[in-house]
Amino acid sequence: MTMTMTLNLASVRRAYRRHAPYYDVVFGNLLRSGRMKGVDKINSLPGTNVLEVGVGTGISLPHFKSDKRIVGIDISKEMLDKARSRVNDAKLSNVNALLEMDAEELAFADNTFDIVAAMYVASVVPNASRFMREIQRVCVRGGHILIVNHFTREGGLRGAAERKLARLSHMLGWRPDFALEPFLDSGTVEIIEQRDTSPFGLFTLIHCRNVK
Ligand SMILES: C[S@@+](CC[C@H](N)C(=O)[O-])C[C@H]1O[C@@H](n2cnc3c(N)ncnc32)[C@H](O)[C@@H]1O
Repeated sequence: MTMTMTLNLASVRRAYRRHAPYYDVVFGNLLRSGRMKGVDKINSLPGTNVLEVGVGTGISLPHFKSDKRIVGIDISKEMLDKARSRVNDAKLSNVNALLEMDAEELAFADNTFDIVAAMYVASVVPNASRFMREIQRVCVRGGHILIVNHFTREGGLRGAAERKLARLSHMLGWRPDFALEPFLDSGTVEIIEQRDTSPFGLFTLIHCRNVK
């Protein structure tokens, strides 16, 4: 793979500057099932301080219970502008902050959040290991981490298609061939639940406990 094909912050920013105007119309519904399962799970968990990493246009925000205090971060100014409008229009008083920030370098102290959510983000960030380390650092020990993402399956037509599509990662703004392992290190997270979600079981919801 050449450098031009890998993701970096500049290519991710460019991709989401392009996607922002139509993101909700196209991806809002397409990715709704996993996102809503993630939000429902978070609403059922103990703990109030929630970080949503890669909050995007804030499409999840109206669905959190009012006792959850949400901080959202994203690298894309254009996606965050949409999120801020949504929060203002819907008067969502439980959204504490929406901040432009790199998920691989979070500007929060260790153990700040009870719950950290990353929905459709893990295969978008340039360095998934650093991203996971940062999520775990800011989440309390014993806290909850919710990941919704597409993970590649080895072999078969699907695997072949994913490997072909991966050549366009820099244009798509995500990696179709993203693998669950080594992304999740069973030594530092305990997987509590893992299940496939729509459309076509292409995405997976993973609920883990942070045991860093
Ligand atoms: C596919 S969108 C998902 C948006 C939202 N979570 C949802 O459920 O639809 C991925 C988001 O991750 C953001 N993102 C990508 N890399 C990032 C990084 N390094 N730090 C913070 N946000 C990032 C993108 O800007 C984009 O808004």
